[in-house]
Parts: sequence; C-alpha cells; structure tokens
Amino acid sequence: MLLPVVLSGGAGTRLWPLSRESYPKQLLPLTSDKTMLQETVLRLSGIADLGKPMVVCNEAHRFMVAEQLRQLDIGTDSIILEPCGRNTAPAVAIAAFQAQASGNDPLLLVLPADHLIGDVATFCQTVNAAVQLAEQGSLVTFGIVPNAPETGYGYIKAAENEIGGTGAFPVDQFVEKPDLQTAQSYLDSGKYYWNSGMFLFKASRYLDELEKFRPDIFSACRTAFLSLTADLDFLRLDQESFAASPSDSIDYAVMEKTADAVVLPLDAGWNDVGAWSALWDVQPQDKNGNVQFGDVLTEGANNCYLHATNRMIAAVGVEDLVVVETADAVLVAHRDKVQDVKGIVGQLKEQK
Ligand code: GDD
Ligand code: MG
Repeated sequence: MLLPVVLSGGAGTRLWPLSRESYPKQLLPLTSDKTMLQETVLRLSGIADLGKPMVVCNEAHRFMVAEQLRQLDIGTDSIILEPCGRNTAPAVAIAAFQAQASGNDPLLLVLPADHLIGDVATFCQTVNAAVQLAEQGSLVTFGIVPNAPETGYGYIKAAENEIGGTGAFPVDQFVEKPDLQTAQSYLDSGKYYWNSGMFLFKASRYLDELEKFRPDIFSACRTAFLSLTADLDFLRLDQESFAASPSDSIDYAVMEKTADAVVLPLDAGWNDVGAWSALWDVQPQDKNGNVQFGDVLTEGANNCYLHATNRMIAAVGVEDLVVVETADAVLVAHRDKVQDVKGIVGQLKEQK
C-alpha cells in the first residue's frame, strides 16, 4: 500500500500578510475554493493502491486541519500533532514509525502541503511509475527541470544511465540549497534537476537511512513515537520527548547522504508558491497582465498581482506591483522583490 504523508508544519512567511503563524499558507485557499492542504489530498485519486492520508502538523493547527480534511469526505489514516517544529526529518520519522505500527511496511509518499500541480494526471502517472523503484528499496525523488538559479531548492544531479526502462536515474549528487553562484553553475550545466520536495520510499528504508546518517534524530524520534497518545481524532506527541530531537530537514539529514536515491523527472506544472510572484505566474491574467482576486478595480495598471480580502483595491497607473490587502495589514511590494517580505516578518517578530 502507498500511504500519503502530508507535511503541514511550515509557516509560509513569504506569503505574509495572508499567511500567518496562526494561519499558514497551506490552510488558505489561494488558487481555488479549496485550500492548498485540500488540493494536496484531492489530487491523489489517480494513484494506485492508495491508503488514506496521514497528516503531520503543529498542534496549534489541529482543528483547522481536521475540519479541512473532514470537508473532503475521504477519511484520514491519522493526524499527528507536533508540540513544536523540528523540521521535516523528524516529522517523516514519526510518520514512518506510525506507518509500521500496523505490522506492514508501506510505501510513504511524502508530500508538502503547500505546492501547486497543474497537470494532476501526469503527476499521478509519475508517482505510479515510481512505485516499483521504491518497492526495490530506492528512495525516489521527483526532479523538476530548473529554469532559474533558485537558492531555496535542492539540486539533484542525475547519473548518465537510465535505470532499465523506468525513466529514472541514480542520483549522482544531491545538494540542498546551494549558494547563488553554485546554483547558477548547476543551471548552466543542464545536468541538474530541482528537488520537488516530494519523496517515495518504504517506511523501513527511510528509517534505516536516518539511523545510519542521523542516529541522534532516529533515536530521539523512536522515543518520541512511543509517547504518542490518542486525543480525540488526533495522535499527540509528548512535548518533552519530541523537543529532544535535533531539528533538521529530510534533505540535509538523509537525501544529501544516502547512496540509494534515484530521481524520476516530473513534468506536471509543479510550483512551490514560494512567494506572491508565483501566484502571479500561475494564475490567469487579464489583458493587461494583472491577476485579480476579490474586490479589485484597475485603471491603467499592468502586470500586477492584486489580492483583496476585506476592502476594495483600486490600482491606477502602476506596474509590476503586488498588493495584498487583509483586515489588519496591507502589503505593497515590487513584483521582483517579494522574496524580501520575509524581512518584514522578521521585523514583526522582533517587535513582539
Ligand atoms: N509537520 C511538519 N513539521 N511539516 C513541516 C515542518 C515541521 O517541522 N517544517 C516544514 N514542514 C513542511 C512545510 O509545511 C512544507 O509543506 C514541507 O514540509 C517542506 O518544508 P519547507 O520548509 O517548505 O522546505 P523548503 O521549501 O525550504 O525546501 C524543501 O522543498 C523544496 C521544494 O519546494 C526541500 O525539500 C528542497 O530540497 C526542495 O527543493
Ligand atoms: Mg517549501
């Protein structure tokens, strides 16, 4: 069986002021009437032998997560609550221990809750094509052909030779978040994929590799897993045990180090919505290149992303702006500078 493990613990600060610690981007409807978490689960229906999703999230979001899943009417395997964030390596470890608790060793399809995928049919086909590789013990990554020297992604160098008729390649090198110069050289070489952040592997293979490369995380998470208690519809981790785990991402902790990674190219309109400009990129634009959401009027505005939630936005004679209006904050940014919104979030944290 293939068990989806949806990671929903991030804060998504670059989508401030809509995305907040208390209401992160994966719980927002950004491109349709469904939230990103709901879209993540709904797009899986074309995958063979699919189990019900397991969701790992911060305990502060438990009621929103449970309600959003309930609305879909497809059921859940479990919702695991983290008392604090320890990044993705521990989150996946707890999910893997829980998946094995049934006595089986299912395949885990690890999915960030905050991605967009335009071509769902191709996505499901690609996951189905990865199953055999994962059954054989590989840790499968899904590689995206890069089009910019993004420093917020992992880069995967594929080996020359395809693994007999599978469409996949052994991973020669996995480099998480290189600096700009390195990212540019990878892009220029034409030999690297971006890591999409989605993975497929057996629960046991992930845990074996974690134990090999990060025994500290492995043993802390094994202990924390034993502390899981059922609470209403949730499985709750004990604060002290889980906080004892070092914090690290699956990419640094395992994927950069394992010898058993393979990459399967994914061409399905993937977008990780890292910033407001990504929503301008992927959404339908009017004849002046504006993307409008909510109550918006324009007069001579071009190539703007205008998102109103409470009041009207009227944009006149401006270009390349991102304007996001909410009840208590309005963002006005140049479309090329929206990555720097995280600086504002940093300032807000200092003020607290
Ligand atoms: N449960 C849980 N707990 N989920 C978490 C935690 C945590 O502590 N931290 C992050 N997540 C979730 C986020 O909500 C997101 O859905 C996913 O895990 C990935 O975390 P990010 O923080 O968004 O990672 P990233 O974007 O910096 O990098 C990853 O994704 C890139 C592609 O979008 C890496 O896998 C990169 O290699 C990759 O290119
Ligand atoms: Mg991300």
